[in-house]
Amino acid sequence: MKIAMVGSGYVGLVAGACFADSGNRVICVDNDEDKVRQLELGEVPIFEPGLKEIVERNTKAARLSFTTDLIEAVRQSRIVFLAVGTPPAADGSPDLSAILNVASGVGRAMDGYRIVVMKSTVPVGTHKRVSEAIAAETEHPFDYVSNPEFLKEGAAIEDFTRPDRVVIGATNPAVVEIMRELYGSFLRRDERIYVMDPASAEMTKYAANAMLATRISFMNEVANLCDKFGADVEAVRRGVGSDSRIGTAFLFPGVGYGGSCFPKDVNAFVSMGRDVGFPAKIATAVEEVNRLQRRIFAERIIAHFGEACRDTTLAVWGLAFKSWTDDVRESPAVSAIRMFLEKGMTVRAHDPEAMMTGAQELGDAVTMTSDHYEMLAGADALVIFTDWPKFRTPDFDVIGEKLKTKLVFDGRNLFDPRAMSRKGFTYHCIGRPPVTPA
Ligand SMILES: NC(=O)c1ccc[n+]([C@@H]2O[C@H](COP(=O)([O-])OP(=O)(O)OC[C@H]3O[C@@H](n4cnc5c(N)ncnc54)[C@H](O)[C@@H]3O)[C@@H](O)[C@H]2O)c1
Repeated sequence: MKIAMVGSGYVGLVAGACFADSGNRVICVDNDEDKVRQLELGEVPIFEPGLKEIVERNTKAARLSFTTDLIEAVRQSRIVFLAVGTPPAADGSPDLSAILNVASGVGRAMDGYRIVVMKSTVPVGTHKRVSEAIAAETEHPFDYVSNPEFLKEGAAIEDFTRPDRVVIGATNPAVVEIMRELYGSFLRRDERIYVMDPASAEMTKYAANAMLATRISFMNEVANLCDKFGADVEAVRRGVGSDSRIGTAFLFPGVGYGGSCFPKDVNAFVSMGRDVGFPAKIATAVEEVNRLQRRIFAERIIAHFGEACRDTTLAVWGLAFKSWTDDVRESPAVSAIRMFLEKGMTVRAHDPEAMMTGAQELGDAVTMTSDHYEMLAGADALVIFTDWPKFRTPDFDVIGEKLKTKLVFDGRNLFDPRAMSRKGFTYHCIGRPPVTPA
């Protein structure tokens, strides 16, 4: 099939590359000239495991190409995917200006029938606005499909090529068949394809993200109560997760959720409720708990050093909002580091993939270091924000030798407090009783 993928970011580039890899001809469009130039030179501007190889393979085979020219891309394609960003506006609702701009552009470029597929996460009802924006610019017929994306950064290729489900919001059965065919190479049996109306497809995406965010915030609340009662949230998490009605996923307490999706999508869910006069009370609380959680961990560190903050150096592991990505959008690490800097603390940071994007956010106020052990020399504490494998199984002897004091603040509950105490560390984590060093 001939596909135009408009927006070549985390979603568009992954989707475009994977569709090309399954034999389609894909033109990725982006209005960021630098990004397109980089891609044309074979450089992949984001870190996503496995993506570079797929992009290289398909560019070489001439199945995947890149352009800033929307008109040409639409003219050469039968299916046009929209995967541009929908960042939050000041009131928490998603800013649809890029989507509506592109929709008008697609309408102007059309020289015949097209299938327009929405991959971006857009509020319920957007299918009408986008269809109107296209129709206002063209006499040619088109079908609209809402096809929300559920991939996770860091595992995007795996998620896209082995999806839990594919949601297709469309009304024309012939178009549903084309979408089935397109996803057929990723889903041997099609019982995991869910066909519904576009409004339900749009809602499915928000409901899924709001549910996942709810589990995280709920477990963070449980962890905070465990802290107050001296209970151990790890034991509680196992006890709760073993219930088959509940399951174990997304029950890990930590520094709060971040990234470009959960915060934005939960806020959008709240704003959709506001728009129709039905307050989304659970989602509102989920966001409130998350904002609090993002502060609690940083405040505990600041309180620990008190008056001595100005003379304190922190060594931070993890800058992105989670491991296996370079994405620092809404990263709890970045917001905590800003709080440390406000208190006059000195911060050194290391992230296996996010030091460039982290530096773009934080400027030169933070010293970025390529070696996660060297940076510990003379620091007053190690602070952990993400769970990269090398952070999970570090050399504690080296950590202990390099740090000024054997003090670790762990926002991901990576280690056993008793084992840490035996190694002589003062260890603070989330919702687990402290153990005095042996
Ligand atoms: N990142 C994720 O994990 C994820 C997962 C599922 C869904 N989504 C949703 O997918 C959408 C895209 O997210 P993303 O993370 O890929 O965003 P992104 O910011 O990484 O990529 C968006 C791309 O669109 C380009 N763009 C913006 N305006 C344009 C225009 N007028 N013409 C052409 N290109 C334009 C940008 O330059 C950028 O490269 C969002 O709605 C997001 O909520 C994201």
